[in-house]
Amino acid sequence: MIRYDFNNLRAERIGEHGVSDQEIKALEPRLRQAFENVRKMRQEKQLGFFDLPYDTALADEITKLAADLKRKFENFVVIGIGGSALGNIAIQSALNHPEYNLLPNGKRRGLRLFVPDNIDPDRLHGVLDLLDLNKTVFNVITKSGNTAESISTYLIARERVIKTVGIEKHGEHFIFTTDASKGELRKIAPRENARCLTIPATVGGRFSVLSSVGLLSAAVTGVNIRALLDGAKKVDQGQRMDQAAGLVEIWKNPALLGAAYHYLLDVKKKKNVHIMCSYSHRLRDVADWFRQLWAESLGKRVNRKGQVVHAGQTPEKSVGVTDQHSQVQLYVEGPFDKVITFLSVSQFDHDITIPQAFDDVEGFAYLGGKTLGDLFHYEERATELVVTQTGRPNCAIRISKVDEEALGGLFFLLELQTAYIGELYDINTYDQPGVEQGKNFAYGLLGRKGYEERKREFEAAARPDPRFVVST
Ligand code: PA5
Repeated sequence: MIRYDFNNLRAERIGEHGVSDQEIKALEPRLRQAFENVRKMRQEKQLGFFDLPYDTALADEITKLAADLKRKFENFVVIGIGGSALGNIAIQSALNHPEYNLLPNGKRRGLRLFVPDNIDPDRLHGVLDLLDLNKTVFNVITKSGNTAESISTYLIARERVIKTVGIEKHGEHFIFTTDASKGELRKIAPRENARCLTIPATVGGRFSVLSSVGLLSAAVTGVNIRALLDGAKKVDQGQRMDQAAGLVEIWKNPALLGAAYHYLLDVKKKKNVHIMCSYSHRLRDVADWFRQLWAESLGKRVNRKGQVVHAGQTPEKSVGVTDQHSQVQLYVEGPFDKVITFLSVSQFDHDITIPQAFDDVEGFAYLGGKTLGDLFHYEERATELVVTQTGRPNCAIRISKVDEEALGGLFFLLELQTAYIGELYDINTYDQPGVEQGKNFAYGLLGRKGYEERKREFEAAARPDPRFVVST
């Protein structure tokens, strides 16, 4: 079960920077409409992420493929970026041993996993240089099949694999995860003799973690992908009960209520920064994944009516307790422009008792006999209290323990919340014209055919005025 605690967002509790029950009540007709819009888009098969938890055939195919890869290889490298990498990283750090890749072969649940997620040559060199390519399989993930970062990384890896295993065998070292028909990667798959997995056309990158995008790298590291999907399914079932009743129970629907609070906090209370603060080191990359989901889905210049709105909260990430010693000062005393979502976990898989020593030294003595888990939770509660006492809106999403089911549910809940808030902003939650614009300039600069105009536009743009460029 996932508990979403909204108490500290309420004006009745934290004062003027919170949202009053009355304000939520006044939003109810629009919330019902948002729920209905999403339901309709789902019914019309526009929102493929809703179907992912039910795709048992895909889960079986991936489980089989993963077993085969585990027999043949030692290393699994994801070549992808943005929505084609962040979910993979989030699953890995949440569900596997914190030093998973360093575990010896017999102790690891599967292949070593590497997700470089960047084209900084130093970064990529570091990964490729380390691996025995005879024992490495690459999963090239790109929905569009065109992203320059992923394609160039693939070309580099391909050349090195050919040099290592020869041209005849190199295809066995690549799995392409891409659209069923569109994009350049799909075109070359038969030539390369590479195995392909499909990303459904109606599943956008940032909503794709529970598709072939996120599931294969999870399965090869021993994650129970069926349980991951079951967690998402459970969250969805709650929604479906609402639908069956014909009337959404707003106060019982965490995703919808979360959307309502964050929308009002942004547009009415000017809380334009949304910090996801993970009080679980294992969920820190879920916060990173969420950053993309929230930013790319909601950061929109125009609404559906074509009016300029510049919508969206700026999502930020922080990690408890580490960032208590870096960010919390700002949260507590800085500008009233933030809302915090605490990600919280009740139970650790391994707790550690702090040894009793130096009983005569108070700064040491009080810690003896407590566990690190106790310390962690007390610090979490103390931070929550101090931000609440200073009138800062904050909410908490609590799971009992980090496991497959909880993680799948968490992904799905946050996706749903994003879908609903997008309806409240009345924007297209599922496109990313700003990202495409940057991609197109890069294509132009790299001399890609069809993008000559972008290159000219770039060259015509204002050059830096040297008076304002200062070197040491
Ligand atoms: O969410 C999105 O759509 C984007 O962030 C993409 O995931 C990212 O740009 C990578 O695109 P692609 O998977 O097409 O290579």
